[in-house]
Formats: sequence, structure tokens, C-alpha cells
Amino acid sequence: MSDNSFVAAGEAVAIASDHAGFALKSVLKSDLEAMGYGVVDLGPKDETSVDYPDFGQSLAREVAAGYVKAGVLVCGTGIGISIAANREPKVRAALVHNKETAKMSRAHNDANVMAVGARVTEEDMARVCLKTFFATPFEGGRHARRVDKLSGN
Ligand code: RB5
Repeated sequence: MSDNSFVAAGEAVAIASDHAGFALKSVLKSDLEAMGYGVVDLGPKDETSVDYPDFGQSLAREVAAGYVKAGVLVCGTGIGISIAANREPKVRAALVHNKETAKMSRAHNDANVMAVGARVTEEDMARVCLKTFFATPFEGGRHARRVDKLSGN
């Protein structure tokens, strides 16, 4: 793991999906464990059809409460589940598609949740996004002022 990681080894990270994201969730969960994080899997437990808002909101509450440092969400496109998570004011969920968007979501937006779409992003790319997201520090400076404005400050 990068020394720059915004989540230190041993800290907790939550992961959740809907049915469309279930298989990729399992892959990314293993990667997070291999990166040294304590992973809280908020479900679902199988590919039975579920509603993405339930899982996006559940993960967002964990992040907002400080029970976990960051989160990872997966649905079919990543769109619905990221919209759900972003209704929690303390959450900045970024829907990422490639290494650049994963990197910038951290460097400029200080995203604390990464969302990805299992039906639109190849597994290998999703794994690259995950590693990049957790290895990239927030740049701060002028970006801190802008991120503060996202919280109404
Ligand atoms: C489920 O069919 C699909 O709508 C969901 O996974 C997601 O893509 C919604 O944004």
C-alpha cells in the first residue's frame, strides 16, 4: 500500500452493492483485504434482486458516522448507488470509470466513497480504480476551499 494512502492499513472500509454489483463487490472486497483494511461488507449476500438506494444509504450512514473511514459501492452503472450515497451531506461519492477519474476524485474532490459500475467497467479496470483511489492523497490548497463549499461552508 502507498504511504500516501488516506486510509491507513488496519482502518475500516465499508463495501456494498446491489445485485448487479454483487460479483464485482466480492472481487473488490478481496482486494481491500489484501491492501490491509478491515472490510465491513454491508451486503447484499447474493445476487437476489435488491434496491440500490438501500445499500447506498446504508454505506453512507457508516461513513458519515465515522464507523468506517471510506467506502466502495457497486451497482450496474454506479449511477444510482452513488446518487443514493451523496444524499448524505458528509459523503462525497465519486463515480469513477478509469485511473484518471479515480485519481482526480481523491486529489481534487477528497472523495470518501468510490462508486463503480459493474456493467460498464471491466473487472481489471475496476481493480485499477480501487488501488488508485486508495493510494491517492487529497491535494488540499485551493481544492480544500472548493470541497468545503460542498458542505455548505
Ligand atoms: C439494476 O438493474 C440497475 O438499475 C442498477 O444496478 C444501477 O445500474 C442503477 O443505477
